[in-house]
Amino acid sequence: MSELSRKRLASQLAEAVAEALRADLATQERALLVVSGGSTPVPFFEALAAVDLPWERIEVTLADERWVAEQSGDSNARLVREHLLQGPAAAATFVPLTTDAMTPEQGTDEVAERMLALSWPASMVILGMGGDGHTASLFPDSQELGLALSTADPVVAVRTPSQPQPRITLSADRLHQAHRHVLHITGGDKRSVLARALSGDDSRELPIRAFLACPLAVYWAP
Ligand code: 6PG
Repeated sequence: MSELSRKRLASQLAEAVAEALRADLATQERALLVVSGGSTPVPFFEALAAVDLPWERIEVTLADERWVAEQSGDSNARLVREHLLQGPAAAATFVPLTTDAMTPEQGTDEVAERMLALSWPASMVILGMGGDGHTASLFPDSQELGLALSTADPVVAVRTPSQPQPRITLSADRLHQAHRHVLHITGGDKRSVLARALSGDDSRELPIRAFLACPLAVYWAP
């Protein structure tokens, strides 16, 4: 897969996000953008950071986070600060999902309060997908998956055998509270899982399917 097509995809997504934010800011004082971590978003973050928007009226938060210090190379907050909150976008209000608490369970209440103070419904929620069909930190092998898919709480602490660190994730209920949803997925290894998820067959073990009923744009590059 050429790097160019991922960069072109990232630019197209940045244009769509900018258009959505402008549309919402025409009728509301502030707008919320929920982004995902991982490696796929980096060129998208860099493309969006350069767009001239009223960033001082825009809130940014994450769909999920690894419970690590922001200095860690595994931190999604670090990814956002280094690649999105630059240039014009540095004026945005970024609300991270970690606290000084030792564990996500101990930090959940504080993070929930932060989330509830944001300008919901979000203008857009941008979700990635792993090769196992996970999205945010809704993992098929997580013991908290059922809770994260059913609770009305805004965030859930997640422990997953397949992941080295504990995580915190926005719940499916909270992630659904958006005007628009987008899947931003790269990697040829995900083609078959994405096709299965989109096919509508009863692939309950694919958490991404929790978001396929809502109006959705899929930005995909192999
Ligand atoms: C995270 C993300 C996660 C990500 C997928 C895909 O914290 O890692 O929120 O859900 O979107 O794992 O990651 P890639 O796009 O890097 O493959």
